[in-house]
Amino acid sequence: MPMSGDEFVEWLDGELEPLRREASASLYFEAWCGGKLSKEQVFELMKQRYAYLREIPHIIAAWIEHCPYVDVQQKYISYLHEEAPHPEYLIGFAKEMGRDPEEMRQAVLIPEFTTPYFYYWLSRGHIVEVAAANNFGNERTNTRKGRGMYEATVKYYPYPSLIKFFEDHAEEEGDHANLGVYVLKKYATTDELQKKAALAAKKSLQLKILGQNGLCERFIKNWPLNGGLHAPVT
Ligand SMILES: [Fe+2]
Ligand SMILES: [Fe+2]
Repeated sequence: MPMSGDEFVEWLDGELEPLRREASASLYFEAWCGGKLSKEQVFELMKQRYAYLREIPHIIAAWIEHCPYVDVQQKYISYLHEEAPHPEYLIGFAKEMGRDPEEMRQAVLIPEFTTPYFYYWLSRGHIVEVAAANNFGNERTNTRKGRGMYEATVKYYPYPSLIKFFEDHAEEEGDHANLGVYVLKKYATTDELQKKAALAAKKSLQLKILGQNGLCERFIKNWPLNGGLHAPVT
């Protein structure tokens, strides 16, 4: 007997809470929000963010293509329009830092950061798995640190495009999370779909934590790698 939509969302929030807490307690946020990162570290971290976000419009398009529900398709089309400009802010940031934007465009993800591969894989799954993993799992967790990241950027790393990037995320992420709530309540209506959605949401937070840990190891804890300038990324 499946839970009602409201019950399921409340239950899933409870299930995810330990993972949300672990993800939000990362050194990544502590270092960023404490203004502890050098320009070089901020640049390397944003290159990783870019390499992920560069894929997002293509991933959302694949989700839309495989989604059988017109109302969800329409909402994800609007969502795609909101996400599409985000990577370009980071290109603007590279220019404002005096770096070659090609360095940003050519960024390669560290092997620990696997979220976009999982997201492509989910395009063959059910839209409730997508909504659970991306919107309800990942983006709803992002809302906890969004405002703090924005405020720290204004204070410590005041590049206009970087500020805009975090400002947009602080403002929009709550709506993106609510899109997940909408899809789960309306379409995760069987035991099987509720089970699949819960597994996808947990997996997405586990991968988020592994990715963040990898970023912290490489670009925060063990930095600089070679006594300073232009340490290798991989
Ligand atoms: Fe975004
Ligand atoms: Fe978002």
